[in-house]
Amino acid sequence: MSRIGVIAGSGLYEIRGLTIKKNRTVTTPYGRPSEKYVIGEIDDTEIIFLPRHGKHHGIPPHMINYRANIWGFKKLGVKRILSISAVGGIRKGLKPGDIIILDQVLDMTKNRQATFFDGKDGVAHIDFTDPFCPELGKAIKRAGVKSKVTLKKGGTYVAVEGPRLESASEIKSFRILGGDVVGMTGMPEASLAREAEICYAGVSVVANYAAGISRKKLTVAEVMEAMKGTTGNLKKLLKAVFTMIPDERKCACKDALAEAKI
Ligand code: HPA
Repeated sequence: MSRIGVIAGSGLYEIRGLTIKKNRTVTTPYGRPSEKYVIGEIDDTEIIFLPRHGKHHGIPPHMINYRANIWGFKKLGVKRILSISAVGGIRKGLKPGDIIILDQVLDMTKNRQATFFDGKDGVAHIDFTDPFCPELGKAIKRAGVKSKVTLKKGGTYVAVEGPRLESASEIKSFRILGGDVVGMTGMPEASLAREAEICYAGVSVVANYAAGISRKKLTVAEVMEAMKGTTGNLKKLLKAVFTMIPDERKCACKDALAEAKI
C-alpha cells in the first residue's frame, strides 16, 4: 500500500471519503505539531492528514510550528507530502477558483524557524533549485488529466509573512519579480520537507485576486467561499493523485542531504 502525507490549510480541514483508522499525537524535538495526525485510507493508499492551522483554524500562518509539522510526518514514516493551500492570484489570467501546480518559490518570510540544521545538528545547505518534487508534480499533472480537473501550470509561489494581506505595491513588485501567486504558508514548509528528504508538491487554490489586481476590498469570507467552491474538484483531483504515485521514489529529494552537509 502506498502512503502519502497531506497537509492542508484554509477551507480544507478534513478529507472526505477518508476511512479513518486512528489519530496520532506526535511529539517532536521542536515542540507540538498543529494538530493530531489523522491516519486513514482511500482506496489502496494510506493517507496521513494534518490541518496546518489546526482543526479549528486557531493557528495563524506566522505562528505555525513548521518544523514540528514536518518532523511529525517524518516520524510517521511519510516520504511524500502533498500540500494544499489558498493563495491570492497575481498573474494575469488567474481567477478565483483556479487550481495551480506550484513549481517555484520566492521566499519573503521574515521571522520563521526555517531549518532543522541550526548548528546543534550540524550545518547543511540543501539544493533548492527545484523547490517542489518533479516526480510528485508529474503525478499530479497526470491526475488532473485523469480526473478532468483543469490545472494551471507555471506557478511561482511568493511566500509572505502575514498575517496581514499585502499592499498593492508589494503585489506589483512580486509580479515584476515573476510571482504568480501569493500565500503565507508555503515556506518554510517546502524547504523543511527537502531537509527531511521528503518529497513535497504544492497545489494551490486561487481564493482571491491579490491586492490591487482587482478594485475590490479583500475579505476572508471571499477566501473561504472560493475554497468551498473548489472542494469538489480538489476531492476529485486528490483521489486521482492517490492512484498515480509510483511506489519507488526516483527523484533527488530522497537524497537531499547526501551532498548538503558540511
Ligand atoms: N495573500 C496572501 N495569502 C493569501 C491570499 C493573499 O491574497 N489569499 C489567500 N492566502
